[in-house]
Amino acid sequence: MIDRAQAEALIRASVSPVLAEHCLRVAALAVSLARRWGADEEAAFIAGALHDYCRQRDAKEVLEASRKHRIDVGEIERRSPVQLLHGPLAARELAHLDVDAAVLHAIAVHTVGCVGMSVLDKCMYVADACEPARSFEGVDDIRARAAKALDSAVALAVARSIVHVVGRGRPLAPVSVALYNEVHGAK
Ligand SMILES: [Fe+2]
Ligand SMILES: [Fe+2]
Repeated sequence: MIDRAQAEALIRASVSPVLAEHCLRVAALAVSLARRWGADEEAAFIAGALHDYCRQRDAKEVLEASRKHRIDVGEIERRSPVQLLHGPLAARELAHLDVDAAVLHAIAVHTVGCVGMSVLDKCMYVADACEPARSFEGVDDIRARAAKALDSAVALAVARSIVHVVGRGRPLAPVSVALYNEVHGAK
């Protein structure tokens, strides 16, 4: 698998400095969550460092590249292409690197989640939600829960994400609702 230095160099060469710093904060937090909850720390770092590899493409680019990579693009994805497809697209584009399938999966589902997430997926998802520069109302609750119960942190993070998406008038990915229903009430 590619190492941490290679992943850091790749993200710094691919996105703005501000976004690269976000990715590296997510990587660092994903590593500490992986240590806490028993996922592979190297995998967590690589997933965190590269998760937003395609986040700064525009909608047209994302849609074209997604079709080229045969990613399922439905009506909801067409309406929010960058938000909903930058994860799956990054996973496809990075598949040629020497990266574990589990890392690619964590990258693919980092925005909307999925049902039956692995511990690595959850560490990545929660790290993206509450890395140290996140400052929305309730973020400290996600941080506190992440230290105590990973599923509970996922439940809070997906609930917050759904409220955020609805508040912005964007369509909801059904898989986020399915994830919410799977984990809500987790203590
Ligand atoms: Fe993202
Ligand atoms: Fe992110």
